[in-house]
Amino acid sequence: MTTVRINASDAVSIETSALIIGVHTTPEGPRPAPGGEGLDQALDGRLAEILTTMGFTGKAQEIVKIPTFGALPAPVAVAVGLGDAPQDGPGDNYDLENLRRAAGAAVRSLAGTASATLALPARTAAEAEAVALGGLLGAYDFTRYRTGGDRRQPVGELTVLSGAAGAEEAVAHAATLADSVTLVRDLVNTPPSDLWPARFAEIAQETGLEAGLSVEVLDEVRLKEDGYGGIVGVGQGSVNPPRLVRVAYTHPEATRKVAFVGKGITFDSGGLSLKPSASMDWMKSDMGGAGAVFGALVAIARLGLRVNAVGYLCLAENMPSGSAQRPSDVLHTYSGKTVEVLDTDAEGRLVLIDGIARAAEDEPDVIIDVATLTGAQIVALGWRTAGVMANDDALREEIVRIAGEQGEGAWGMPLPAELRKGLDSAVADIANLQPERWGSMLAAGIFLREFVPAGVRWAHVDMAGPAFNKGEPHGYTPKGGTGALTRTLVAVAERYTGNGTSAQAV
Ligand code: BES
Ligand code: MN
Ligand code: ZN
Repeated sequence: MTTVRINASDAVSIETSALIIGVHTTPEGPRPAPGGEGLDQALDGRLAEILTTMGFTGKAQEIVKIPTFGALPAPVAVAVGLGDAPQDGPGDNYDLENLRRAAGAAVRSLAGTASATLALPARTAAEAEAVALGGLLGAYDFTRYRTGGDRRQPVGELTVLSGAAGAEEAVAHAATLADSVTLVRDLVNTPPSDLWPARFAEIAQETGLEAGLSVEVLDEVRLKEDGYGGIVGVGQGSVNPPRLVRVAYTHPEATRKVAFVGKGITFDSGGLSLKPSASMDWMKSDMGGAGAVFGALVAIARLGLRVNAVGYLCLAENMPSGSAQRPSDVLHTYSGKTVEVLDTDAEGRLVLIDGIARAAEDEPDVIIDVATLTGAQIVALGWRTAGVMANDDALREEIVRIAGEQGEGAWGMPLPAELRKGLDSAVADIANLQPERWGSMLAAGIFLREFVPAGVRWAHVDMAGPAFNKGEPHGYTPKGGTGALTRTLVAVAERYTGNGTSAQAV
């Protein structure tokens, strides 16, 4: 695991394997950003000339490596593009996501290097945190299943150069967040043969206890006894039975409680409504919601936030077999309502409604569920933007704003009343599928809303696209599991800490 520390010394004297600086685009050519001046001096003021010779312009996340030939202790300098300089002159703050991505791209380009020093703009604690976080997240690689040592290891040690007040705490905060995102990425990337519901529950128990969470696991016997018909129905086709994990963190001075519910399908074959092969190979990522919820709870506990937080991991493996649920089966769910299963591939909503109904018993101020719920989310919003739906407009907009601040794409989506009719069932209280595919991200949200008790503020985040990067790495985002929404959930919890910001929390 990559470590990070802070150092206030100057960029050119520090012993490091690589020095990372930022560069802006200007009409006159590339110009070093704050933090890069020392390198320019060490190169006799010829940095801009070198960059121009290399064809480097400074556009966001562009990378070039420059040998330093003894001009400073670091044998190589890495210039990373930051795009245009902030408009209002030297005192102006940087866009934090721009810094995170630049740091991530630069550190990612240095795989195989022992250490790197980030001399990016970090004149405020927030900037230092962004640089540290981007660097740590960019250093990620999932190597557990690779034999042979030919793969270049991620950078082991990062140093962030900053003399800003509070930078030390900010960088520690970044490290805690990065540890949780790393944990979630590892869970998502782990093949389903090594991550079935009971195994996920075990990991939650081990890691959760270490972090200071209380962890309760309901096995398939308890789930049946207690009436969790949704989770039981989805899980019954697999030889790996389902689990519901409750992770809780309490702070003695907390005044508010948040509840998070995560979809945790460790593999989604579709069940008897089998998926085509092409949409199945990445369905190990269908537990990304439960991963984000768990990762967020771990971070909340490690940060010691003054808030009560509870997370539900709705874990099941959706498989076809002789014991699998059938299209037209009716489930008796934890809420007391019955659901006709018209399509066993619309399983996420079935496990979530049991988690939501259970979470409501904790009487939280808000319930947020996070799920890789529909392909329609990807159709509507693409790979990087999650859809946010809620029974409360202010809550929905608050989540979109908080996600935006973390650089996690999210956009508000409606729950149009006319879509409810499509979920009418001929035999049960509701069906799990509407007959037409149009608007199915929204129909899924409408389905979930039916299971939220009156008076409970609830939001639903569909992150089918953002949870898993099928394409090439970019910024601080690797291929595969991304850990999406983990940081947003932590930031939501921070809004409920009651240390002066609670008045603003919706
Ligand atoms: N896990 C899938 C959704 C998904 C699709 C996640 C692509 C990530 C990438 C979910 O369980 C599912 O199968 N949804 C169906 C619902 C449909 C049957 C109403 C879908 O979106 O096709
Ligand atoms: Mn499915
Ligand atoms: Zn699914």
